[in-house]
Amino acid sequence: MAAYAKLFSPITVGGQELANRVLMPSMGTNLADGQGRVTQAMIDYYRARAAGGPGLIVVEAACVHPSGRVIDRNFMAHDDESMEGLFRLAAAIHEYEVPAILQLIHGGRNSHPRLVGEALAPSALRGPTSHTTPRAMTVIEIEAMVEAFARAARRAVAAGFDGVEVHGAHEYLVHEFLTPYSNKRQDAYGGDQERRCRFACEVVQSVRRAVGREALFCFRLSGDDHVSGGLDPAQAAEIARLLESHGVDMFSVTGGVYETPHMVVPPTPMPAGTHLEAAKVIKRAVRVPVAGVGRIRTAAEAEAALQGLDLVAAGRAFLADPQWLHNAATGREAYTRPCIGCNQGCIDRVLQGAPVSCVANPWVGLEGLAASLRPAQEPASVVVVGGGLAGLEAARTLGSLGHKVVLFEAAPELGGQLRLASLPPGKEEFRRLIDYYGLALGELPGVDLRLGIAATVSAVCQIKPQAVVIATGSEPMLPDLPGVNQAPLVTARQVLSGEAKVGPKVAVLGGGNLGSEVAHFLAQRGHEVCIIELGLGIGNDLGPARRYYLRRELMKYKVRRYVRAKVRRLFADKVSFLHTAPDGTRELTYVEPVDTFVSAMGAKPNEKLFLALEPKVSAIYLIGDALSPAGMAQATSEGARAALTIHGLAEKGGLPRPQGQTC
Ligand SMILES: Cc1cc2nc3c(=O)[nH]c(=O)nc-3n(C[C@H](O)[C@H](O)[C@H](O)COP(=O)(O)O)c2cc1C
Ligand code: SF4
Repeated sequence: MAAYAKLFSPITVGGQELANRVLMPSMGTNLADGQGRVTQAMIDYYRARAAGGPGLIVVEAACVHPSGRVIDRNFMAHDDESMEGLFRLAAAIHEYEVPAILQLIHGGRNSHPRLVGEALAPSALRGPTSHTTPRAMTVIEIEAMVEAFARAARRAVAAGFDGVEVHGAHEYLVHEFLTPYSNKRQDAYGGDQERRCRFACEVVQSVRRAVGREALFCFRLSGDDHVSGGLDPAQAAEIARLLESHGVDMFSVTGGVYETPHMVVPPTPMPAGTHLEAAKVIKRAVRVPVAGVGRIRTAAEAEAALQGLDLVAAGRAFLADPQWLHNAATGREAYTRPCIGCNQGCIDRVLQGAPVSCVANPWVGLEGLAASLRPAQEPASVVVVGGGLAGLEAARTLGSLGHKVVLFEAAPELGGQLRLASLPPGKEEFRRLIDYYGLALGELPGVDLRLGIAATVSAVCQIKPQAVVIATGSEPMLPDLPGVNQAPLVTARQVLSGEAKVGPKVAVLGGGNLGSEVAHFLAQRGHEVCIIELGLGIGNDLGPARRYYLRRELMKYKVRRYVRAKVRRLFADKVSFLHTAPDGTRELTYVEPVDTFVSAMGAKPNEKLFLALEPKVSAIYLIGDALSPAGMAQATSEGARAALTIHGLAEKGGLPRPQGQTC
């Protein structure tokens, strides 16, 4: 702990003593019910995080008015009926003696039109990524919204929260007023910085009046919008000084707007400390404590971030492993499930309307279930085939419940596709998840790792398992095109693994996640690369942050991108495709010369072993890419689910007798 002296030191904020310097920032979960009320899943989720011992929890953004909903199951604090749930939630967090404040939000022009109809904003200005043009709020509507913030704040504190946070960042309503990027008004609420601040000042004043002097009042401030025409740290510092004078106890500094999503929830390979520099500028301008945020994943990163700041906010670290801080305090950091910055299980899912999850931790959102699990009374003998993410999580869950697991992995190392996924530039940290599983499995006495051994029907049957989990992954699909046999064609996987020789001029066939990553990988190594993609855009199957990041990188390395391009034929040194322009004009196009074609056109399940064992084994489960190629979040989630099913059957005596399996 001496190594993390500042991190684990207490601090007083707004009269409230926090046990350490780490706060869990607001993260929307989509775990509320259809009316935006608290569910048991939400309570279990926050209870698990409170048990990990952060100094403060900022509970996810609760909407102050129905016109401001951003996500499908947006948490709501807009009426008195929300109070019963707020009360239960605050009480659950307080059981762990962790203070909790509630973030208050109105989505402004980024409220979802499907949920709210007409969006409200300072100006009738369609954002580059907003779905519709919002309506500029009238002064009467503005005054009513100020009141809505105050009423929601009063409810939160009356329900037992220790305070509130006003969301004044990420291009939501309060921030939209503050920033010249989205506020083009020429009245009392816009025109110059002072008038742009008026709405935020009124919100802060009325919230402070509503919650009283005792409550902790945090303001989530955009320290840098990272967009042309937006706020910079110097302007943000002036705003902070003004808001402090109206009663803010603390600033939680973040940044970015929808147009720059990689700054809002920064993906790998953005370095740790995305918004720390802006936070330090704010810190120098105010007397109250200031927190910074952005890819803080370890205690060492948090301790370093605290040089010049009072607190750090660590969001996804608490998703990946609610116990990460506790592990750091007890010398077990290596056993922490690492956040790998993929965004696939968390923000990408939430923005699509699904409940939050995590690639590294499929138990997010299922904390109640996880807490109810008991070790097996009759340990079952299980074979898991495949040491990729799905198989690893299945083996880990089974092993931690006391079952006996033999895990076959054909390669000499664990990881499967995750190993390849860690090879494109900047994705090296994906390996941390493989390392975690290696350590976690090594600690489980019932898990027998058989690396470098390709499982066969007889090898599996010899073990006489009571259940078998098949997680054998997928294999790349090759294009069925004229000329394919004469063309110098390799797969993206062969390129990433170093198996394939690649010439100087490369055409990548397929511009999804894999195609754009392999193009980036090659371009960074000096190859001249083009991508030919049938769909409307490059990386369209990626989440917004990673897509933005990767497209920018592809531009930087001058990768040529052809979209709406249907490959027609491969030649020995060129490719032809049908290109359809946005106006519908079609043209047969050639790219030449090409030294190497790289196929990134999808994958098919590797299910041979499953098909052979299926008739022989009654308790057999097909998961991950072997079931159907999908994302990493599905892989770990299916691994956990298969393990739970087997555990449930074992507890009910529903598996074949030990040693009795005939196959
Ligand atoms: C699933 C998810 C939901 C989020 N929702 C919110 C939100 O409602 N309000 C907010 O201020 N920030 C939100 N954020 C941003 C986080 O608070 C945090 O600033 C961001 O994740 C960067 O911190 P990290 O790198 O420690 O995760 C969200 C982030 C994630 C991953
Ligand atoms: S899904 Fe990925 S980015 Fe999100 S918390 Fe989990 S590991 Fe981190």
